[in-house]
Amino acid sequence: MQYRTIDIKTINQEGIGGLSFFEAEKDIPFPIKRIYYITDVPMGIKRGFHAHKELKQLLFCPYGKICITLDDGINREDIILDAPSKGIVIESPLWREMLWLEENSVLCVAASDYYSEQDYIRDYDEFIEFQKAKEIAQ
Ligand code: TYD
Repeated sequence: MQYRTIDIKTINQEGIGGLSFFEAEKDIPFPIKRIYYITDVPMGIKRGFHAHKELKQLLFCPYGKICITLDDGINREDIILDAPSKGIVIESPLWREMLWLEENSVLCVAASDYYSEQDYIRDYDEFIEFQKAKEIAQ
């Protein structure tokens, strides 16, 4: 499966909390053009259900607990984001589903490009076809 979990640098200071940070093209392998975050999702709700053709992303959860399911068309893996220091770097097309496991959990994304609906694959069968076509082209 083509993703990496990364350890986001986090400084925990006694009694005054934690501070996490990453730098584009140093800690993550691409320039950042867009940041977005998803809030106020009730526990038990799933979002996502899409893949991106070109977009590269770092996913992280600074607060709460979210299960990220990644699928390359053959295998599926679940990754739990439950600490500000945990991140997932996705650099190739993977189908993703995100399940909110705790109330008020926040999902943040640093992305390599501006929003473009053309970059989305929102149909799972279409994603499978996209992956097959990619394999044949290689
Ligand atoms: P979407 O990526 O489909 O969210 P999720 O997969 O979590 O359900 O985005 C939801 C809506 O927000 C969709 O109509 C597109 C819009 N959107 C933007 O306009 N700009 C953005 O940067 C993003 C991420 C989404």
